[in-house]
Amino acid sequence: MKIPFVDLVAQYQTIKSEVDPAMRRIVDQTAFIGGEDLKEFEKEFAAFCGAKHCVGVGNGTDAIYLALRALGIGRGDEVITVSHTFIATAEAVSQTGARPVFVDIKEDTMLMDPDKVEVAITPRTKAIITVHLYGQPCEMDRIVEIAHRRGLKVIEDAAQAHGGRWKGRRVGSLGDIACFSFYPGKNLGAYGDGGAVVGNDEALMNKVRMLANHGRLEKYTHEMEGVNSRLDGLQAAILRVKLKRLDDWNAARRRHAAQYCRLLADSNVVLPTINPNTEPVWHLFVVRVPNREQLQARLKEKGIATGVHYPLPLHLQPAYQYLNIPKGALPVSEKVAQQIVSLPMYAELTDEMVECVCASLREAMQRPV
Ligand SMILES: Cc1ncc(COP(=O)(O)O)c(C=O)c1O
Repeated sequence: MKIPFVDLVAQYQTIKSEVDPAMRRIVDQTAFIGGEDLKEFEKEFAAFCGAKHCVGVGNGTDAIYLALRALGIGRGDEVITVSHTFIATAEAVSQTGARPVFVDIKEDTMLMDPDKVEVAITPRTKAIITVHLYGQPCEMDRIVEIAHRRGLKVIEDAAQAHGGRWKGRRVGSLGDIACFSFYPGKNLGAYGDGGAVVGNDEALMNKVRMLANHGRLEKYTHEMEGVNSRLDGLQAAILRVKLKRLDDWNAARRRHAAQYCRLLADSNVVLPTINPNTEPVWHLFVVRVPNREQLQARLKEKGIATGVHYPLPLHLQPAYQYLNIPKGALPVSEKVAQQIVSLPMYAELTDEMVECVCASLREAMQRPV
């Protein structure tokens, strides 16, 4: 059985009858930039997150950059985040002129360790970016408590967690401002690049809207210099069709995750730890194994695709050598990076496919090295 890592073709088949006319409508209206679908999508996505405002932007990286800029963060400032994330989280910080400061993660959840945050705060620290990696919400109560006690802002990087919940509340409404990516493979994915900033503070969100559109709210008045980073009409129309199905798709991902956990329960695979305060949305299903590369090769022979998110923590990437963070500085991030492997995860997976992945993984682990 061939099992891809994600299957956007299978998803498209389930929504074709609705998404094709939606795209046609935008082309007929030539509503390519701005327009009603964008306005409606922004309202619908804000409501979905339990937040008051949403601004559609060009991609998830820009969403973080724009949130930071709107908060007034720039040269000379420091922003605390994790090293165990996609590079976009840290790139957005550097793009503002600020410096990313990496803290370690907890070994069980592989998310920001709140115990490591406070010691990383300096007089230059302005914000904390928590990353709800793999669709698992971070420990928001503790992170927000530390941040607000120390006068810092909390930015949620929710690029992998659309619809996830912390203590019943959706991500996107848990910090001061939140950022989403609609990269095609995300839980809510566009047919190209897309992103959104979500929040409750109207003045702050107006600033995001201005910054994303050349510093203006009105056509010929530029209050400041901004950038060009807009979610386009076609993407908004597609995302509206998909948003209606997101809860069902996330529920399907949860069923697959539960099945993976059942079928791999008494194996040598280290399964994800679920914080009981959270309802994860399983953007990725990441387990820890010994001899990862060999297992991946054996699964590949059987037609099963896997991934690694992410094999080298950011502080050890060539791009961040200028920060002079030595190997060994973030031991948990460094350790898990060598062991993690992401198994196929998407709503359209079948029970048989999950069974096949688990059986193949068990068999691959039993074969001698
Ligand atoms: C955790 C995280 N942050 C930020 C991003 C950036 O999003 P984009 O690719 O839309 O710029 C991504 C996804 O690519 C991501 O996974």
